[in-house]
Amino acid sequence: MDIKAYLTKKKEAVDRSLEKLMPPATAFPSVIHEAMRYSLFAGGKRVRPVLAIAAAEALGAKATGVVPIAASLELIHTYSLIHDDLPAMDNDDFRRGRPTCHKVYGDAVAVLAGDGLLTMAFEVLSDPKLEKAISARTLLSVIKELSTASGVRGMVGGQVVDMQSEGKEIDFPTLEYIHMHKTGALIRASVRAGALYARATKQQYLALTRYAEMAGLAFQIADDILDITSTQEALGKDIGSDLKKGKKTFPSFYGLEESRRRAREVVDHALGALKGFDRKADALRELAKYIINRVN
Ligand code: IPE
Ligand code: IPE
Ligand code: MG
Ligand code: MG
Ligand code: MG
Repeated sequence: MDIKAYLTKKKEAVDRSLEKLMPPATAFPSVIHEAMRYSLFAGGKRVRPVLAIAAAEALGAKATGVVPIAASLELIHTYSLIHDDLPAMDNDDFRRGRPTCHKVYGDAVAVLAGDGLLTMAFEVLSDPKLEKAISARTLLSVIKELSTASGVRGMVGGQVVDMQSEGKEIDFPTLEYIHMHKTGALIRASVRAGALYARATKQQYLALTRYAEMAGLAFQIADDILDITSTQEALGKDIGSDLKKGKKTFPSFYGLEESRRRAREVVDHALGALKGFDRKADALRELAKYIINRVN
C-alpha cells in the first residue's frame, strides 16, 4: 500500500474536521483564535489522528466515525508543541515551517492558545452530538484514555522529567521513561482510542497497545536522530535543539548508527505485535515503518 497517499487522504479528512470544530479566526477575542489556528494549520503530519483511524480500520471499522476523536488528538498534540517550544521549556523559534507561536503572539497568548487547544479537545469529545455515532460509554473511555495520557501519568510527567534531566547525567531507564511518557503516551492513546471506537476485544486491545508502545518509542528515537541529522528546512523546526539544551537522547547514549539499529528493532517489535491481524492492519504496519524512515 502507498502510505504517503494514505496519510494525505486521512490528513485531509482530519483537517476538514478541525476546520469545522475551530471557531473562526475573527471570533472574539480574535488573537487567541488566530494563535490557535496559526499553530494548528501550519502543516503538521497528523500522525496521531492517522494512527487512531488506522487502528479503527484494522478492526474493520469505517474511518468516518472516528474522525472527531482523531481531531481531538491533534488538538492535544498541537497544544503540547506550543508549550514545549516556550522559552521556559525548549525555547525554540521555529515549528512546522514557521516561527513558533510565542514568537508571533508572545508568551502569554501562546500559553493560553495551548490551554485553549487542550481544553477544546475535551469539549469536542463530550459533545452530545457525537452520541449518534459513538456510544456515551465509549466516549467516556476515550476521554479517560486521552486525559490520562496527556496528564501527569503521561505526557506531562514525561515533560517534567525531560526538563529536570537537562544538563544532567541520567541513566537509560530514565531516558526510556521520558520517551515513553512525553511522546509514547499520546501515541498509545491514539491507537487505543481507535481500538475503543472499533470495539476491540481484550486480546486485540492488548496487541494494539503493544504495537503502539513500540511505535511511540520508535517515533521519539527518530525525532532524536532527526534533531541531529536533518536541516531546519526539511524538518520545519529548529535542529540541534537537544544538544543546545543539554538533553540526553538516544544518540547521546548510543550514537547515531546504534540508535538507528535500535529504532528498526523497536519497529520490528511493533510489527510483531500485529501478527494476528489481517490485511486491514497494513496501514498500521506501514505507519510503523514510516515513523522511522520519515524525513520530517
Ligand atoms: C513532534 O511531533 C513532537 C514529538 C512528540 C516528537 P511530530 O513530529 O508529530 O510533529 P508534527 O505534528 O508533524 O508537527
Ligand atoms: C516532544 O519532545 C515532547 C512533547 C510533548 C511535545 P521534543 O521536545 O523532542 O519535541 P520537538 O523535537 O521539540 O518537536
Ligand atoms: Mg521538549
Ligand atoms: Mg522540543
Ligand atoms: Mg525533539
